[in-house]
Amino acid sequence: MNEWTTEMRYRPYGQWDKDYSQKLITAKKNSLWHMNYHIQPNSGLLNDPNGFSYFNGRWHLFYQLYPFGPVHGLKSWYHLSSTNLVDWKDEGYGLLPDNPYDSHGVYSGTALPVGDQLLLAYTGNVRGENWERASYQMGAWMDKNNQVTKIEQPFIPAPPKGYTTHFRDPQVIPYEKGYLLVIGAQNDQEEGKVLVYQSADLTDWCLLGELDFTKESMGFMVECPNLVFIDERPVLLFCPQGMAQSVTPYDNIYPNMVVIGDAFDSDDVKLINPQPLQNLDYGFDIYATQAFNAPDGRVLSVGWAGLPELEYPTDEEGWAHCLSLVRELTIKDNHLYQLPVAEHKELRQKQTALKGTIGLQQALVENTTNCYELEITLPANSEGVLSFFADEQNNYQLALHFDTKNGKITLDRSQMSLPLNEKFGTTRTVELTQSRALKLQVFADQSICEIFVNDGEYALTSRVFPQTGETQLFIEGTQGEYTGNYWELRSSSQN
Ligand code: FRU
Repeated sequence: MNEWTTEMRYRPYGQWDKDYSQKLITAKKNSLWHMNYHIQPNSGLLNDPNGFSYFNGRWHLFYQLYPFGPVHGLKSWYHLSSTNLVDWKDEGYGLLPDNPYDSHGVYSGTALPVGDQLLLAYTGNVRGENWERASYQMGAWMDKNNQVTKIEQPFIPAPPKGYTTHFRDPQVIPYEKGYLLVIGAQNDQEEGKVLVYQSADLTDWCLLGELDFTKESMGFMVECPNLVFIDERPVLLFCPQGMAQSVTPYDNIYPNMVVIGDAFDSDDVKLINPQPLQNLDYGFDIYATQAFNAPDGRVLSVGWAGLPELEYPTDEEGWAHCLSLVRELTIKDNHLYQLPVAEHKELRQKQTALKGTIGLQQALVENTTNCYELEITLPANSEGVLSFFADEQNNYQLALHFDTKNGKITLDRSQMSLPLNEKFGTTRTVELTQSRALKLQVFADQSICEIFVNDGEYALTSRVFPQTGETQLFIEGTQGEYTGNYWELRSSSQN
């Protein structure tokens, strides 16, 4: 497909040819970049995670899907469930665009167990005759058989006065004796805002106001805001679009940001003592992360390992993107930490202990399958480079430069055999404490690499597109001993 017209993008699902859909599924299955343990679409384009929740004895996770090509078109929620956050059952479509209030897409939102049902809260995207946008905040109930019934009328039928129809991505959370709804918005001056509503019964929602969490301007729109509580402190995750890079430096087209407060004040609709904004992740490809307070006490998150408006090599094969691994969020020293949930240990197969001296280039392990977990500790005052997805000569690779004397790592995509979105730079750097040992946990999976630094102090999520034979893993540099472990990982079910 060369040109994706608006007519094609919004064509009703039933009008697509079955053979065409089957070909897309086959092309995806046969792709070299098909992942083994990351959530990815069966065909077409995946974007935001939606409705991440625990209900009826299982984890539920939905994602935004346009199934007919690698473009943003008529969106649905696609449903997966799991008992271990690692293996997923394909539950099929969760919400389809089949209603006058969501005719042009079932957009992002969240889920909340209420009684013996799961409430799905989402944005119904509608385009009028002149393609003008309308945005309805909608609900649906999912029962214990995963049967979904949409609530006919929107629970918020229009943006409030003073705001445009860029009003979407509701998050519903229990709060005190009732509920709060947090939503992304744009005011009439085209400034990005986060609005908060309150309800006692999930039916009548009253606007509390704009959430005060920063004095800085958040650009022209805020997407996918979500509020969680870690150690009782409010943590807001959100995606400002068009925010000045002087507020908090970032290189991706749009950043995924986080702000931590001391407390949440619903009377004044604000975070008390908000810290400066931080990047949630320092990699090349992360957006629309959704987090929730799980009933087991953990705060879990999952992100879209992709970005709006960018192109990726799998576009040629008719599909795009995946989700990050599910992570647990914690706060230490006023900083947000994130690590893949402990359940990922279930993926581990053969283990190899690693130990050696950093020096001339050497293989950490020979010939990987690009499907592994690497845990490595590099000594203080050493310098060098780890090469992932490298060819035998190490001409091409995803490089991670480390300098533990000056406290710095740089992830470098410039020497990949298939360059990627170079317009947004080819390196990402994280500053660390000087003269300190560095611990890395790396999850490689065919076309994605998730790197966790110093037990989750920083995360870097990046897509990579190695070509055939680019499966080597090298280390070189100067000084000191490294130690670690390498595990081959199995595929998760669903993939
Ligand atoms: C973020 C986003 C959301 C919207 C959804 C549509 O990536 O633009 O704001 O609900 O994607 O797919």
